[in-house]
Amino acid sequence: MTNPTTTAGNGAATGAKSDHEVAQVASQENVALPPRKHLLDLDDLTAAEITDLLDSAEGMLEIIGRDVRKTPALRGKTIITMFFENSTRTRVSFEQAGKILGADVINVTASASSVSKGESLLNTVKTLQAMQIDALVVRHPHSGAPYFISNHTDASVVNAGDGTHAHPTQSLLDLFTVRSHVGDLTGKKIAIVGDVLYSRVARSNIIAFQKMGAEVTVSCPNTLIPDEWQLDSTLGSETGFGGLKLARNVDEAIDSTDVVMALRIQQERQDAGHLPSLREYSDRWGINAQRMALANDGALLMHPGPMNEGVEISSEVAHGAQSVVEEQVRNGVAVRMAVLYTLCAPGKSTRLAGGGDEAQAQA
Ligand code: CP
Repeated sequence: MTNPTTTAGNGAATGAKSDHEVAQVASQENVALPPRKHLLDLDDLTAAEITDLLDSAEGMLEIIGRDVRKTPALRGKTIITMFFENSTRTRVSFEQAGKILGADVINVTASASSVSKGESLLNTVKTLQAMQIDALVVRHPHSGAPYFISNHTDASVVNAGDGTHAHPTQSLLDLFTVRSHVGDLTGKKIAIVGDVLYSRVARSNIIAFQKMGAEVTVSCPNTLIPDEWQLDSTLGSETGFGGLKLARNVDEAIDSTDVVMALRIQQERQDAGHLPSLREYSDRWGINAQRMALANDGALLMHPGPMNEGVEISSEVAHGAQSVVEEQVRNGVAVRMAVLYTLCAPGKSTRLAGGGDEAQAQA
């Protein structure tokens, strides 16, 4: 799995501590971190910072539930969503989140922008930067693109999914959804079933749930895990995913779990020879009622969407009583409101306070 934080995170070019290093030191020494400028990944955040974001999202959910869903918290701020890949949930929820908070939200898609005329990512960012924007929400097919962008703009950058690397706001909304049902995540058992090798949601969710104290097991074909990992083993701390269990047998992975998360199987994985057939995948790893019966009573069924019903998840359970798929979508708006507010509200942004990277390096 790629980890651009080791090569492209804040401070990498200057020799200053990376966000990850700062977070580790802060965590060990129990010191408060300065405000963040960007949200690029969750491995940069401490459990306490994640909890603060989730707590903030609780308040945002209350705002969403009002008759008049509008606050002036980000009035006068300009947020650009820049999507170089298709999206329904993430793009719409960021737009809705920004608008509820009173910001001006402008959507840019690669196909309808000068990117389609050959403009480079750098020139696109510089062009938007010249328009005095406050936040840039970016989805990009290349891992690390949001890190690159964060080095070339004064705006706060939010990673809305980059290649196979990370999807931090998806993980925050998944944590938020599970927490709202089970409370403290410590010791809770989570089974993630699907494409671990290529899924940015898998990577971010393994990090997120482990960071909050949950026990995570993944199950998938051995062609969909990194070469150096072995099924039917538990990863050591040297991998960065210490304690992660890898189960060949999906029934064993799901047995006695509190949460079952199915991941989208992309057709291109079969085309690339990673799967014998979608039908065989569905038989051996698809989540259906029989498999859900192995989980704890009242276990939650999650899927980040979009779902391939009949492949990684049966229609019966996707829309059944244990499914929280639509809750995940609704919570996504609240969580993204919390993220935008935390990064952009007056007095919160390190950019507004002046010098985020320097402040982080001093922590
Ligand atoms: N889960 C997710 O990222 O969905 P979209 O691609 O629709 O944004």
